Amino acid sequence: MHIARTIAELRHMLDTCRKPAFVPTMGNLHEGHLGLVRQARALGDLTVASIFVNRLQFLPHEDFDTYPRTWGSDCAALEEAGCDVLFAPDEMELYPEPQTYKVHPPAELADILEGHFRPGFFVGVSTVVMKLFSCVQPRVAVFGKKDYQQLMIIRRMVRQFALPIEIVAGETRRAGDGLALSSRNGYLSPSEREEAVQLSLTLKRMAVALKSGQSHHAAIESDAETSLARRGWKPDYMVVRRRADLLPPTGDELLVVLGAARLGNTRLIDNMEV
Ligand code: PAF
Repeated sequence: MHIARTIAELRHMLDTCRKPAFVPTMGNLHEGHLGLVRQARALGDLTVASIFVNRLQFLPHEDFDTYPRTWGSDCAALEEAGCDVLFAPDEMELYPEPQTYKVHPPAELADILEGHFRPGFFVGVSTVVMKLFSCVQPRVAVFGKKDYQQLMIIRRMVRQFALPIEIVAGETRRAGDGLALSSRNGYLSPSEREEAVQLSLTLKRMAVALKSGQSHHAAIESDAETSLARRGWKPDYMVVRRRADLLPPTGDELLVVLGAARLGNTRLIDNMEV
């Protein structure tokens, strides 16, 4: 695996490549990321991953400084997964001057759910992804469904800017008990780790209720929040939304249930298509 620390090195390495397939990450890699890398291998003629902890997508009180940086094990895992090129710029390389040109996704998609609880998050994500796309110039990029809203926002960004990039979704990887794999799972204490599966179990119950024909979405949502809150969680949202635009359903549409809740100091998110 070749490692590029600068945009110039990266461009040189990708010079003759016709179809780079790209997986952007913030490092601290787990099987979820590595599954995306393996998926990308089948989609392009060269597999490129990036590791960059993007300050722009963290609020001042969030975990930018403490976000786990696990360079050695990340490199070994990427190599093992078949990554050809790793782009790992430092902050001065990607943001040599304050990033005053930014991508602002539309409020109806970016200021709800995650964007409501983490204002500015999707401006930070969209801006860095646009910049990484500009550096890598991939033909295909793979994003996990675990970050469902992020995937949707990136898809629309690519469509609206007519970027010649196919966005491919990767299924959420789960631990044996059903907990969605996430870099932030590492923050959980052993007892929190045992409890953490309740988020996916609650989403599953919501999905089962919908499949069995229950149509009172507000009741399904509030039951889910209450049952997590009773167990000591602090739910931000547990909602039923349309898959197409993440707005509340109005009729017979394809649905997804999405949840975000805090367990101790760790905020977890998950979702399931119904
Ligand atoms: O999903 C992530 O890890 C990040 O939001 C991304 C897409 C790498 C942008 O920093």
